[in-house]
Amino acid sequence: MSSMWTLHDIGDRADLRPAYVDAVNAVVVDTWGRADFSREERELFGRDQRYQQRARLVALDDDGSPLGHAGLELPRADNTRVAYVEVGTVPAARGRGIGSALYDELVARSRRAGRTVLMASTDHPSEPQGAGTLAPPTGAGRVSTAAPGVRFALRRGFRLEQVERHSVLDVPLEVADAAGRTARAQAEAGDDYRVHTWSGATPAQWLDQMAVLHTRMSTDVPTAGLDWTEERWDAERVQDRDDEHARRGVGYLTAVVEHVPSATLVGYTSILTVPHTPLYVHQDDTLVLREHRGRRLGMLLKLANLARLADEHPEARRVGTWNAQENSPMLAINVELGFRPAGGSGEWQLTLT
Ligand SMILES: CC(C)(COP(=O)(O)OP(=O)(O)OC[C@H]1O[C@@H](n2cnc3c(N)ncnc32)[C@H](O)[C@@H]1OP(=O)(O)O)[C@@H](O)C(=O)NCCC(=O)NCCS
Repeated sequence: MSSMWTLHDIGDRADLRPAYVDAVNAVVVDTWGRADFSREERELFGRDQRYQQRARLVALDDDGSPLGHAGLELPRADNTRVAYVEVGTVPAARGRGIGSALYDELVARSRRAGRTVLMASTDHPSEPQGAGTLAPPTGAGRVSTAAPGVRFALRRGFRLEQVERHSVLDVPLEVADAAGRTARAQAEAGDDYRVHTWSGATPAQWLDQMAVLHTRMSTDVPTAGLDWTEERWDAERVQDRDDEHARRGVGYLTAVVEHVPSATLVGYTSILTVPHTPLYVHQDDTLVLREHRGRRLGMLLKLANLARLADEHPEARRVGTWNAQENSPMLAINVELGFRPAGGSGEWQLTLT
């Protein structure tokens, strides 16, 4: 590999997109040892710019091969102090200053946009314990200080605020067993609660109520010391997000639970399919409003959506999900469903001064 390299803003340069995607996937496969989190071009570049302003950079060798990637997300509708930064260098090109140069460019752009809080994630293929590990102030979960991303973040002044667990469930579930669990959860929930499911765009009748649930989701999940405030969702934003999924080639399965006496939705869960493989799907948000917790609604929702997944995507074999290590109620449901620990992430924060 030669020593000259250059940074490029992807902007409207569609010709640079494949190199960016290759850099992202090289880092993903190196970190995880598997390709479940690989991305396709449309999935990365079909993202919405209305609620998040996004910039992407790629570092290229002088022969045009990709060496590193960086992404910046600036929320526009809420949380306008925050900038999310993401930096990755392909393994063979590390230790040459590429990650630092990409990162410095993201910091400069964040400052120019008036952002004062940087957030970043590091990915980890296992949950380490003991010497050579670091725990966040929540005390839940640890990351290895030997991981290059952890070293990189610490040296730049980031603080580890939260650790998430990644868990994987083998699917499809055994049909009779899942039916039995569903019947028991429904019996505990009682007749006041009814589950509905759909795939793709949100039905018009639920748009406003889904906006309320998304707003609550943004702060009802544990956020540790992360400087995150409520997102503002309305029906239009829910529709925009549905359009975004379609553009990105991402399938979206939703289960909601209605409190029948008040005709309101009090919880939801969603599964995303990804364009690069039919084998792996992502268990996304799950929320049951506080005042309706403790009635097995979380379990009922997840089982309903997994049943829909088995019907619509029988080829799916693994469901992956992410949860804060301190989110014991959600982790308990996942463990009961059969999810097994499969690594995690560190969530980092830096205040720009
Ligand atoms: C973290 C990561 C982006 C660093 O990429 P990189 O290109 O190796 O970064 P750099 O070369 O700029 O810096 C890495 C180390 O090499 C050293 N370095 C910088 N320039 C160098 C040079 N010209 N020659 C040799 N070493 C150099 C730096 O001192 C740095 O050490 P430090 O982090 O302990 O300060 C890379 O390891 C990676 O992709 N990890 C997985 C993704 C990830 O975790 N990203 C999130 C980061 S918050």
